[in-house]
Amino acid sequence: MSGNLKFIISTVLLLFAISTPVCSNEDNYLHCQRVVKNWVESSRESGQDRDKLNLKDLLFFLHVPRTGGRTYFHCFLRKLYTSAQECPRSYDKLRFDPRLVVSHDDYSLISKLPEDRSSVVTILRNPLDRVFSTYEFSVEVAARFLVHPNLTSAKQMSSRIRPKSRGVSTLDIWPWKYLVPWMREDLFVRRDARKLGKLRRMNEITDPYNMENMVMPLHDFINDPLAHEIVHNGATFQVAGLTNNSYLPEAHEVRECVRKHPTLGRAVLEVAKSRLDQMLYVGLTEDHKKSARLFVNMVGAQVLSQSEALSSSDVQAEASRKTELSSSFPESETGEPDQIQSSNYSQLGTEVSSPTDATSVEANMTVEKLMGAYEECISSLRKSQSTRRSMSLKRIAPANFSKEARLLVPETVLQQIISLNSLDMELYRHAESIFLQQEHHSLKGRGAFMAQQQQKMINTEHESSWNNLYNGYSSGKVFLLTTTLTICLILFVITKRRRTSKLKV
Ligand SMILES: *[C@@H]1O[C@H](CO)[C@@H](O)[C@H](O)[C@H]1NC(C)=O
Ligand SMILES: *[C@@H]1O[C@H](CO)[C@@H](O)[C@H](O)[C@H]1NC(C)=O
Ligand SMILES: *[C@@H]1O[C@H](CO)[C@@H](O)[C@H](O)[C@H]1NC(C)=O
Ligand SMILES: *[C@@H]1O[C@H](CO)[C@@H](O)[C@H](O)[C@H]1NC(C)=O
Ligand SMILES: *[C@@H]1O[C@H](CO)[C@@H](O)[C@H](O)[C@H]1NC(C)=O
Repeated sequence: MSGNLKFIISTVLLLFAISTPVCSNEDNYLHCQRVVKNWVESSRESGQDRDKLNLKDLLFFLHVPRTGGRTYFHCFLRKLYTSAQECPRSYDKLRFDPRLVVSHDDYSLISKLPEDRSSVVTILRNPLDRVFSTYEFSVEVAARFLVHPNLTSAKQMSSRIRPKSRGVSTLDIWPWKYLVPWMREDLFVRRDARKLGKLRRMNEITDPYNMENMVMPLHDFINDPLAHEIVHNGATFQVAGLTNNSYLPEAHEVRECVRKHPTLGRAVLEVAKSRLDQMLYVGLTEDHKKSARLFVNMVGAQVLSQSEALSSSDVQAEASRKTELSSSFPESETGEPDQIQSSNYSQLGTEVSSPTDATSVEANMTVEKLMGAYEECISSLRKSQSTRRSMSLKRIAPANFSKEARLLVPETVLQQIISLNSLDMELYRHAESIFLQQEHHSLKGRGAFMAQQQQKMINTEHESSWNNLYNGYSSGKVFLLTTTLTICLILFVITKRRRTSKLKV
């Protein structure tokens, strides 16, 4: 009897499955809903952090690609932290005594850090510009390989050089390790086709974003599955910790579900928003000057007072005697993935050492000095960046990207980018409102700080939150040093594993 019943049930179920694809879709939706819900619950922060404006022991710079994070790294963080204090996990360098992690890895990296003793900062950019910039940079880096006669030799050369070079290659860093080889292959295919005369003749007037003889047009780029996987809504996924590069095992299923059922994206967006709310600092690429100033006030000042506290400790003296490896930011934002770009064949085999960066913080660094140094640093950085860019784009002339040329892109393409990045659009608006609050707070805070100094002069002990903000760092130095050492080692091991496993794919 029970056998009969089973038979009936399974027949009914089978019929259901066959006759109602809608229903199985529904099942999948329900399944996905559960998956997303579980993730949301597990990622919920344990309450509001009222202390979020105080810099904790470790600073995690969540670097969303193409937001200008590199300038912050080079022109602020480099001047605030010695390279020995940096644990640049994703940039695949091992150094000890980390107080700083700068990474293109997503938020899930925090699971490898002491979460309650880490402060997170990030910069966001208008999604439309971020997509444009991602496209342009992929083309720019890929075009450098066109010095080679064919793709095979380009690939061989880069794999031969990479292990030798001490700098970190763009080709090792997510997301460029996927975007650049893809674009590179495409550029070679188009060049070969041109050589064989297979392509239509070039038109006179041309939109560089739609020049299929030379380079993959922008509208093809944004519609490719790879862009869907890696580029669109990239900031939201990165802040949520759900990128293709996540440390979280369930991230891939969650991402898949959100892609299949876009309504579930709301939940991801809400998590990303609340993460931003909890950050020590959120900058905006567009509002560059103000962002830099806020960064100095909100982060720089605290790093300086933290360093002071540290350098007065004996433990620190011990630590700073440890190995200081030379460091280089992966040239991901300016290019210079490796030695290939600027060189001709005679130079390809030679080792070019990474740019000499300050390995020690200048004594008596102050907030004012920092801001001054920043201005100088950024202008020279921009100059070299644009030189490199035009050198590279020469190889695909007459295609040439510029702000003016962007105006030639049809409105339909722009609208499509906006709709493909609807989560990012909303996250960006949220970041703008956080930015306003920060400005407000910073102004108010400075007022309070002044008042406090006066209070101090008339010898009154009065603790305010702003005072705490400057003197927040006090204890746990020994603990910090030992644990950070351990973290760095763990990260190193993970990195190695991830690297080898990913590179082999
Ligand atoms: C690619 O270029 C290299 C170097 O010029 C050459 O030796 C090789 O035969 C080429 N390979 C193909 C498949 O054309
Ligand atoms: C990430 O995306 C790239 C490009 O689509 C793919 O090759 C890779 O396997 C993906 N990784 C994961 C973990 O899904
Ligand atoms: C390669 O570079 C060297 C010096 O940088 C230069 O003298 C030489 O002409 C270059 N060769 C080619 C083929 O561009
Ligand atoms: C830093 O300041 C101290 C006293 O405030 C001074 O003795 C020292 O020379 C200064 N160092 C530098 C490099 O300016
Ligand atoms: C591309 O445009 C920039 C200005 O927008 C110009 O400086 C550069 O020379 C151009 N490059 C080429 C190869 O035409």
